Amino acid sequence: MKSRITNILNIEKPIIQGPMSWLTDAQFVAAVSEAGGLGFLGPNGGSALITRSVTDTIERFRQEIKKIKQLTDKPFGVPLVISRDMAYTEQLVEVIIEEGVTVVLANEYIKDKSLYQKLKSHQIKIIYRPLTPTIENAKEAESFGADIYVATGFDEGGTVPERVIGTFSIVPMIADAIDIPVVAAGGIGDYRTVNAAFALGAEGVFAGSLFIATSENPAAENVKQKIVDSNATDLLLFRTLPAYYRSLPGKLAEELVEMDRQGYSNSELSQYMGGGANMKLGMLDGDTENGFVSVGTGISTISEIKPVKNIIKDVMKDIQ
Ligand SMILES: Cc1cc2nc3c(=O)[nH]c(=O)nc-3n(C[C@H](O)[C@H](O)[C@H](O)COP(=O)(O)O)c2cc1C
Repeated sequence: MKSRITNILNIEKPIIQGPMSWLTDAQFVAAVSEAGGLGFLGPNGGSALITRSVTDTIERFRQEIKKIKQLTDKPFGVPLVISRDMAYTEQLVEVIIEEGVTVVLANEYIKDKSLYQKLKSHQIKIIYRPLTPTIENAKEAESFGADIYVATGFDEGGTVPERVIGTFSIVPMIADAIDIPVVAAGGIGDYRTVNAAFALGAEGVFAGSLFIATSENPAAENVKQKIVDSNATDLLLFRTLPAYYRSLPGKLAEELVEMDRQGYSNSELSQYMGGGANMKLGMLDGDTENGFVSVGTGISTISEIKPVKNIIKDVMKDIQ
């Protein structure tokens, strides 16, 4: 299919795999891009060790980007914001330019218009995905020169938007407000949700959870199976920073729900949740009791662990 999204990104099918902390590596990202979508390396991509060093983090990214380039000559993306500490972004931008990466993901932490201009001067395409979509930040992204805007609904996995607005409501609101193409994120789980996104005005889809239960994803096998065996009603929702989080059941997730019920503050909940370290413990290491398993409400239709290329073929079957 040829569309504004495929033209801008130079890909075959308008489906983008969202970056997921700890849950991407070169093999996985290349599999998405080779299947005609756009793969994204995520924070800690290809790593199994926690580091707080900016230099180590950036060097790991460079090595993983090099590995992707050995596995595919198709486009793939890298997020610009992998920590609220902008020192990471400054160094990552240099690696992105040096390694010839053609697509980046930006968000609201990047306030510097000159960075957009720098990326554009290297023909790098900018996909903008704020945590919480609004008409104001969509218009601002457009004026900054973003090429594509991702409208994310509350259905999503990972850090969910601060406003409780589902994908069905947010996508048409944003699509009506801006001229750059809009891509729908949150709850994309099969061909029906993809078709619905297009009917709502999206010109592409952006998915995370859908890609975890795949042969190539680095998630622990028991986590992939848990996703296959679960549906949206199994998911636990609790307050944290910046707003809410979801997890499949497990000791930590159940404790967080109980702390939420008892009125602990969002920052106390966030501290107990343990951030990326406990996501790694739950999803990469497979300790689903002491870590958490963050996925979106679209998991109900995931019923088998499949290769990435079969998933893309299946969900995009009606998009011609
Ligand atoms: C386990 C997990 C980790 C994620 N980590 C990140 C991240 O580090 N950075 C980011 O921009 N988005 C992250 N996301 C969000 C995804 O890129 C994508 O927006 C989201 O998964 C879309 O919703 P879906 O899961 O319903 O498809 C994460 C999502 C999941 C499920």
